Amino acid sequence: MELRSLIRDIHNFPKEGVVFKDITLLLQNPDALKKTTVALLNLLEGNDIDKVVGMESRGFIFGPLLADKLNAGFVPIRKPGKLPAETISETYELEYGTDTLEIHLDAIQKGDRVLIHDDVLATGGTAKAACKLVEKLGGEIVQCNFLIELAFLNGKEKINEYSVQSLITY
Ligand code: PRP
Ligand code: MG
Repeated sequence: MELRSLIRDIHNFPKEGVVFKDITLLLQNPDALKKTTVALLNLLEGNDIDKVVGMESRGFIFGPLLADKLNAGFVPIRKPGKLPAETISETYELEYGTDTLEIHLDAIQKGDRVLIHDDVLATGGTAKAACKLVEKLGGEIVQCNFLIELAFLNGKEKINEYSVQSLITY
């Protein structure tokens, strides 16, 4: 079964002119869910990962599944005001305005080998901010992997100092 065939385009969501890549059909299919997890793991060269870091909210879907298979921990990066303990934050530019992401100060230990995971790489702003947060805490980024890369938005360039892999590219 082709994973790509289970990703549907939703036009004009979340706003006019945007084509949203909806993965919910893939998620509800047991074989596709398993196949996607295995394929994401296969993007890694080894499996020596201490922490999988996922970004709220869609990085929370495959992030923990990958962490489980890698015998790694899972670390959430969240939108502002959601994490209860002491955090550090990173603000990044959007087309209009800025956005901020936070991580717990004690989520990464110095030298931790980190896999960054999110569902989609679009402009790369989210991934770049996540990488900076992990590095501020002394983590070593082994790879950034994504289920989907929207290559026409050139997000890869924003994080070109890291190993970047995606399963499906549009
Ligand atoms: C989407 C997607 C990525 C991000 C990619 O998340 O899940 O996290 O955008 O965009 P970028 O590469 O341009 O930064 P969104 O902020 O829509 O929130 P969600 O995951 O909570 O749905
Ligand atoms: Mg997201």
